[in-house]
Amino acid sequence: MKHHGLGPVVAIANQKGGVGKTTTSINLAASLAALDQRVLLIDLDPQGNSTSGLGVNQKDVTSGTYGVLMGEYSLKESIVDTDFNRLFLLPASMDLAGSEVELVSEIGRELKLNQALDEYNGERFDFVFIDCPPALSLLTVNALTASDYVMVTLQTEFYAMEGLTQLMDSIRRIRQVLNESLAMDGILLTMVDRRNNLSTLVEQDVRAYFGSQVYEEIIPRNVRLSEAPSYGVPVMYHDVRSKGAQAYLSVAREFMHRREV
Ligand SMILES: Nc1ncnc2c1ncn2[C@@H]1O[C@H](COP(=O)(O)OP(=O)(O)O)[C@@H](O)[C@H]1O
Ligand SMILES: [Mg+2]
Repeated sequence: MKHHGLGPVVAIANQKGGVGKTTTSINLAASLAALDQRVLLIDLDPQGNSTSGLGVNQKDVTSGTYGVLMGEYSLKESIVDTDFNRLFLLPASMDLAGSEVELVSEIGRELKLNQALDEYNGERFDFVFIDCPPALSLLTVNALTASDYVMVTLQTEFYAMEGLTQLMDSIRRIRQVLNESLAMDGILLTMVDRRNNLSTLVEQDVRAYFGSQVYEEIIPRNVRLSEAPSYGVPVMYHDVRSKGAQAYLSVAREFMHRREV
């Protein structure tokens, strides 16, 4: 583990937008918290969808991911409580959008988040997730450099495999240069529609190619998942019986099971 004082860190990444990174960050984190785990979600996307999705207003955030990255605030003082037991958030402040430009001129620019996580001196978490922006940007490189694991969310659509190969190459390069201990957590298929032939074909392809790296559980397309953020709650607090809520609870169990074996 890279950050013993903090806990195991999992980056949720894919350079494509709209493939379920944020939905997975919020709902996997909330499901694990409901399963008695102490969880921290770090919102590293300037759009701040994980922040608003957990009911926190980005405009009210003074010390968030940006301040922590730039070394202006400590991680400990910037973590906020959410309305949900055992679930904590490092919110994305509005100024995170400018960080790409400002980071470029910093020494050790790829290591900023890693350093901030190393310096954490609060109560330990069972799991820490990082919701990455939809690009292989400096922010994503910071996330992958600071993480023990990467979870890739993949929408089962036509170009899915192509984007995945590119992402796997980037992960390999990060491993060579910046973080040799970065391990693959797994690939989670999202927005799966098993009545759709293409979705099924892509799922078969990805499973044939990546084998046990692919989560057995899948996230189906479910309207409750897209509604929940507008209420500022994880889907289980919007409709616990929905297919989406049940799927993320199953993924949370598989996630925990994967590190027992
Ligand atoms: N399984 C799903 N079923 C239905 N809608 C979903 C599902 N997963 C995500 N969405 C919706 O799709 C959009 C993109 O998802 P999001 O998690 O924000 O992707 P990313 O963070 O990768 O850009 C959002 O509007 C979200 O509510
Ligand atoms: Mg997102």
